This record gives sequence, C-alpha cells and structure tokens, in this order.
Amino acid sequence: MGDAQMYIDGKWLDAAEGKRFDVVDPATGERFATVPDAQPEDAEAAIDAARRAFDEGPWSRSTERERETILLKAAEILRREADRIAELESRDSGKPLGEAQEDVAETAFMFEYYGGWATKVTGEIPPVGREAMSLVVKEPVGVAAAITPWNYPIMMATQKVAPAIAAGCTIVLKPAEQTPMTALELPAILEEAGLPAGVLNVITGFGETAGAPLVHSPKVDKVGFTGSLEVGKIIMRDGADTLKRVTLELGGKSPNIFYSDAAFDEAVEGTCNGIFWNQGEICSAGSRVFVERSIYDDALQAMVDHGKQVKVGRGLDPDTTMGPLVSKEQQERVLGYIEKGKQEAKVALLGDGPSDPALSGGYFVPPTIFYDSTNDTTIAREEIFGPVMTVIPFTEVDEVIRLSNDNDYGLAAAVWTRDIKKAINTAKALRAGTVWINDSQPAPTEAPWGGYKQSGVGRELGPYGLEDYLEVKHIYVNLVEE
Ligand code: NAI
Ligand code: MG
Repeated sequence: MGDAQMYIDGKWLDAAEGKRFDVVDPATGERFATVPDAQPEDAEAAIDAARRAFDEGPWSRSTERERETILLKAAEILRREADRIAELESRDSGKPLGEAQEDVAETAFMFEYYGGWATKVTGEIPPVGREAMSLVVKEPVGVAAAITPWNYPIMMATQKVAPAIAAGCTIVLKPAEQTPMTALELPAILEEAGLPAGVLNVITGFGETAGAPLVHSPKVDKVGFTGSLEVGKIIMRDGADTLKRVTLELGGKSPNIFYSDAAFDEAVEGTCNGIFWNQGEICSAGSRVFVERSIYDDALQAMVDHGKQVKVGRGLDPDTTMGPLVSKEQQERVLGYIEKGKQEAKVALLGDGPSDPALSGGYFVPPTIFYDSTNDTTIAREEIFGPVMTVIPFTEVDEVIRLSNDNDYGLAAAVWTRDIKKAINTAKALRAGTVWINDSQPAPTEAPWGGYKQSGVGRELGPYGLEDYLEVKHIYVNLVEE
C-alpha cells in the first residue's frame, strides 16, 4: 500500500514537516501503510484552501444542479471501486469484509441521497402583513470541519461530507488516526466526479495536532464530530471561542429490552448481533441487555449458544464473523472492562479468540457475556466499545423503562415484544434518539441519527443531517408605495 499522501487544495501532499505515522492491520499488529502526520500548519493550509474555495473559488458560484450531478457521479464511481475500498476498510479497521461491503454500499447511497437533496432545499415565505414580504432562504454555512472516528470510517466521513457538498459548503476532513485509509479514497472519487479543488480537503493526523486546530480556527464555521464523549466535550469548549456550530455524535450505553412475549429466536439473534456486530465497536451497540425474569434462564442460554457460534478471525477471511478490535489501546481498554466485569457480575461466556498463530499479534477480544448484573455496575454504566454484553434481569415494564433511562447516554434502544401497545409505549418512554422495535442497529440514511442526553448534540442523516450545513437568511422587503 505504501506511503499515502493527503489532499489539500486539489493536490496530494506530505505533511509540511515531512513526518509520517504507521497504519496498522489490527489482525496482525503489522504496518501496511504510512500516512502524513499533519501538524497545525497543514491544518491551516487545508482551512485556507477550503476558505478560498468557498469565498472566491468556483464553488461560491456552484449551482444546486452541479452539486447534485457531482454527488450522483460520486456514488457511481464509488460503486465501481467498491470491492477494493471494502477490502481496504476491512484491513484498516479489522471489521469483517462482508460488513465493510455493506458499509461501502450504504456510503454510495449516501452520496445519492444527498445528491438528490441538493436541488430540493427550499425556503419559505412567511406572512408578515400586507405591507411587506419576507423571504426565508437557506445558504451554505461556510467551511465545515469533519472529525471522524475509526469504527465506520468511510460512512462517518461521508455522512458529513455528502450533506456538506449538497449544501454548498467546503470541507476539511480529519479521519481517525487509527483508520485513515478510506477517507483518502474520497478525494479521487469526488475529483473524478467533478468537484473543484479546495472543496474537500483531507488531512491525516492526530486529534490534538490536526483536529484541534480545525476547532479553534476562526475561519471554520462548523464542526461535525463523531467520537468519544470526552473529546466531544473538549470540542464544545474549544469551539466556544469562535461560537462554532457544533454537532456531536458521541457514545452510548444502549438498552436492549427483551420482553417475555418477544419472538424468542429473532430476539436472541438480534440482541446478540446488536453487541457482536462490528466487534461491538458501535456507538449504538445494545450493550445493556434487560431480560424479563420469566424467560431469563432460557434467553441467557440461547445468547451464550449464539455467542459461541461467533467466528473470531481476520476480517478479510471469508469465514470471520468478528474481527479484531481497531487498536492495541482499544483492546487493552476492553480487556480492562472484562476484568472489572468479573468482579461485578457473573461470566456466562468468555469466547475463543482466533486459533491461527499468524494472528497472535492481533488485537482480538472474544465475545463476552456477563449476567446477573445490576444497572449500577461499571460494565452497565460505561461505554465499553467492544463485544461485551451485560445482562440484567427485570420483572415490570415500569421498572425496565426506569432502568433503561437511568444512564447518562441516550443514543439508541431496542425493544423486543409482539405486543404492539407495549412496544410503542415503551419506545415513547425511552429517552433515546433512535428506538428499534423488533430489530437492533439499522441506521438508514433517510432517517435521523443522533443522541439524547450526553450522546450528542444535533442530528445527522436524513434531511436533519443537511440542516446543520445550512444557514437561514431572512430577507425583508418593504412593499409600501412611496
Ligand atoms: P476520540 O474521540 O479520541 O477520537 C475521535 C476523533 O476525534 C479522532 O479523529 C481523533 O483524532 C479526534 N480527536 C481526538 N482528540 C481531539 C481534539 N482534542 N480535538 C479535535 N479532535 C480530536 O476516540 P478514541 O480515543 O479513538 O476512542 C475512545 C472511546 O471513544 C472508545 O472506546 C469509544 O468508547 C468512544 N468512541 C465512540 C465512537 C462513536 O461512534 N460515537 C467512535 C469512536 C470511539
Ligand atoms: Mg482519543
């Protein structure tokens, strides 16, 4: 794969100081590429390019139709390159290839979806009396920074880049240092699709050196961030000086409510997938599993049986259903929680890692199920971001709703029951941005995504994801005859 470069003002460049860092295959712990280690001056160059393209460049005169055409074309080009890019995503992040292929397919659709929106943003003419007319128009917010995480690299980047382009913004994207590779595919795709230089700039680097300057810069109008609660709070504080528009998609400790009248097998499978997909590295993972007492033993046994079927291995291996965690740091963090869990609850499953000795240096963590936990343990309160399920029994509907809401996060929740009234009443009572009924984890591009409480600020996806890249201008016209 070699030494990649980053993309500023339509040019492929090294970092100004020439420093680089390693991109590691988490299945082996070995380097497979290097990327530039962007410093504040590189971030500044990217911001300046984005600023010029917005204020003076061809983008300032772009039409909605042109933006639609570019985004639709980008979807087509991404589909042409899908196999190669999915493989790169799997290698870089560790996730199973099949899941990476789904991610890339949804990413292509995101380009199309927001391409469609580009020509459909309209204003309003609110009534203000006979003697005036008010025109409300939507305009691009300006230069947008996108700071993204490593769990869904190409999706999280495109979830910000595509609506920004549709709105007419320019962008500086800083992907996570753990998984920079697929973000570096976006410039070539968009360039081929007709995007002018300077509109999308991608800098690879670390949070404090390459990310923070984007948040501090007075030349950046908006920051879209997905990542940890801790850094989300820093970004909100750092953005305050320049009163940035900040949208934050942070973590979760999502409840998964398994009622006794659920379709049992479907609920078992969905509950397990909700924490074992993507190695559990999902902000909305159903990590707190509440099971009604009357089916508790059976459900636990069935989930353990399901967990034992998980095949841990290299993401690129077609048999693999769970890959390694993204980094050594993340592996250590999750193993630390597992040690903690052993003191706080009972262990129902500590699965097997890969048997292949070639993977002995990989960052694997086996599927793990704790049970008989309360809602107050560390493993029930904190985001683990790994394949670790915490099972908690309950008896009453009111009780499980109270427990579900008793957490600082509020990103998502799943409810499994055949009783439609109970399903909807539970969904309404949960303080979460997304509630799945008889499912877990779908996040269609057309629907809003984001958190209540400390899971975030604002919404991505759907028309909501576009609104954040638009300013609202009121033009008032005096109609009184002289
Ligand atoms: P992180 O929040 O540090 O990283 C996310 C992004 O923020 C990266 O691009 C990083 O370079 C950037 N960043 C870090 N510090 C920054 C700063 N001061 N200013 C600007 N940008 C900055 O996440 P990390 O450390 O990789 O993972 C830690 C935990 O965060 C995970 O264990 C998980 O619990 C949670 N997480 C949640 C995600 C989500 O989807 N909501 C995604 C990734 C992690
Ligand atoms: Mg960090």
